[in-house]
Amino acid sequence: MSRLRAEGLTLAYDNRVVAEDLGVSVPDGSFTVIVGPNACGKSTLLKAFARVLRPTSGAVYLDGQVIAGYRAKEVARRLGLLPQTSIAPGGITVGDLVARGRYPHQGLLRQWSTEDEAVVAEVLRRTGVHDLAGRLVDELSGGQRQRVWLAMVLAQRAKLLLLDEPTTFLDIAHQIEVLDLCAELHERDGYTLVAVLHDLNQACRYATHMVALRPGGVIAAEGHPSDIVTAELVEDVFGLRCRVVDDPETGTPMVVPLARTRRTVGNPAAADQVVSTLDR
Ligand SMILES: Nc1ncnc2c1ncn2[C@@H]1O[C@H](COP(=O)(O)OP(=O)(O)OP(=O)(O)O)[C@@H](O)[C@H]1O
Ligand SMILES: [Mg+2]
Repeated sequence: MSRLRAEGLTLAYDNRVVAEDLGVSVPDGSFTVIVGPNACGKSTLLKAFARVLRPTSGAVYLDGQVIAGYRAKEVARRLGLLPQTSIAPGGITVGDLVARGRYPHQGLLRQWSTEDEAVVAEVLRRTGVHDLAGRLVDELSGGQRQRVWLAMVLAQRAKLLLLDEPTTFLDIAHQIEVLDLCAELHERDGYTLVAVLHDLNQACRYATHMVALRPGGVIAAEGHPSDIVTAELVEDVFGLRCRVVDDPETGTPMVVPLARTRRTVGNPAAADQVVSTLDR
């Protein structure tokens, strides 16, 4: 069973077709990671999954029903989207923006509650931005802003999250922090996550299920990273020649691009040694 799946999707902007007859099932409880080159259709697929983009043909099914049939708030209670780029309303504070994530839980008879307050405080803390609550979103750094948007999506409390490049703008320590938070949401809190990531080594470490998209929105491979990530796949999907070795820390596949030249200035002897190891 899959809470979220797409069947026979054709995705297009006006006449520009991005993908045709695409079928993707997100395994329940998985940390699914979508990888693929720029412009292959990753964000477009997430938009279709979140009902932001209507497919030209085919359908997305959420909890067994065609997603187009739900009311907007109902979709937002079940599924959250962190888009690749978002623009905050001018002059809004971090606290107020994150509070907007509670919108799907409010209605005419149910206004702001202590539960909303507690959820906002918790997600601000979990994303490490609690001390920014009173600041204007416009005045934050790119990395701070990225974590604030993540907090807003988490405030929705939807157990299915679509995250489009959640680590962009983040320094390496904050990238790992956000990915660890995602892993915790998935392992401890039972979330199903679908993330687009560009760092293949991070994708291999965190994904329980990987979907590799080729240009033209075609699935080149899907499965556990250890079962699908090979030098052939990376060359096929990205046109990059590489070696795939075991990540010394986790044993998951680690992609090492082939060196451009065989010698480096500085320490040619060491460079030769590296090349000969790689040549084996
Ligand atoms: N709003 C739009 N209108 C027209 N064409 C679009 C629009 N958004 C994306 N496209 C086109 O659709 C194709 C797929 O774009 P998409 O944003 O899905 O790529 P992506 O795989 O997410 O790339 P990236 O890694 O750069 O984020 C690209 O050719 C892009 O130019
Ligand atoms: Mg994108």
